[in-house]
Amino acid sequence: MESNDLSALNTRFAIPGHVRFKEGPGGLAVAEIANTHAESMIALQGAHVMTWQPRGQEPVLWLSRHGKFAPGKSIRGGVPICWPWFGPHATDASLPGHGFARTVMWEVKETGAQPDGATFLRFGLIETDAIRAQWPHSSSVELLVTVGAELKVELLTRNSGGASFQLGEAFHTYFHISDVADMAIRGLEGCAYLDKVEGFSRKIQQGAVVIGSEVDRVYLDTGADCLIDDRGLKRRIRIAKRNSRSTVVWNPWTEKAEKMGDFGPQGHRGMVCVETANALDNVVTVTPGAEHGLLAVISVEALE
Ligand code: BG6
Repeated sequence: MESNDLSALNTRFAIPGHVRFKEGPGGLAVAEIANTHAESMIALQGAHVMTWQPRGQEPVLWLSRHGKFAPGKSIRGGVPICWPWFGPHATDASLPGHGFARTVMWEVKETGAQPDGATFLRFGLIETDAIRAQWPHSSSVELLVTVGAELKVELLTRNSGGASFQLGEAFHTYFHISDVADMAIRGLEGCAYLDKVEGFSRKIQQGAVVIGSEVDRVYLDTGADCLIDDRGLKRRIRIAKRNSRSTVVWNPWTEKAEKMGDFGPQGHRGMVCVETANALDNVVTVTPGAEHGLLAVISVEALE
C-alpha cells in the first residue's frame, strides 16, 4: 500500500475519537490525533511528531511557523528522529547530518486505542535502495508513539544481519517555552559535556543549565530525567528516558537562527532542544539478532 494514500490509511487505521489521516502543512500526509487527553499531529515523513498539546496546556513542543514543510526536508520543530547517526556521518561528509530517518517516508503499521484513552501508533521506516546505499546494514527500525496525558516515543532498532553495527541516535525534541530567559534545565548538574560551541572542549556542568547565548552541548553518560522549569508558563516539562546515555541541549541563539532561515524573527527565544540521545562517546553497538529501544517519556507538571 502507498503509505501516503490517505483514503487507504483511513480505511485501515483511522479510529473515531482517536486518529485520522489527512493532508497537513505543505501537503505532507499526517496522522491527526485528538483524544480525551491531548491533541497531536505526526507526519509520515520522518515519523515526525510535530505537535503535542495536552488538554488545558499550551503546546509542549515548539514548531517553527517559518519552517519548510516539503518532501525530503526536515521539519524545524517537534521531534525529529536522528538515526542511524547523530551529527555529521563519521567518515562521509556527503551524507546528511543527523542521518536520513527524519527526511524519508515511514509507513503506518498499527494504531490502537488504549484503555486509559491514550492513542497508540506504530510506524516503520520504509527501506529503499537510497537508504541501503547510505546504511549497508541489515536492520529494521520502528517508532512507537503513545499520545496521552504523557507523550511516549520509543525507537526500536533491530539488527537482522550477521555483523554488529554502531548506532548514533536522538529524539531531537524542540520544546516550547515562554522565553529562554525565564527557564532553566535541571538534571544535568555535575555532568561532563562536550561543548560544540567551543570546539568540543570537555567541561562539567555547574548548577542548572541557563541559556543566554548559543548553546550546543552533548552531555555524556547520563540517564537522568531532565526538567525544564519554565517560570513564564508556570510549568515544568519532565523528560524521562531509558537506554539513552547522552542528552543534547541546543539553542542556536540570534545569529545562527537568522542564518538558518527557518526560525523566524527571535524564534529561538521561544524554544530549547533537550535531546534524548546516544551520541559521540555513547554510540550504541547492536549485535546480530539484538534489539535496542530508545525511550523518552514527556510530561508536564505545575511549577510551584
Ligand atoms: C543539534 C546539534 O542537535 O542539532 C547542532 O548539536 C545542530 O550542532 C542542531 O546545529 C540542528 O541541526 P539541524 O541539522 O536540524 O539543523
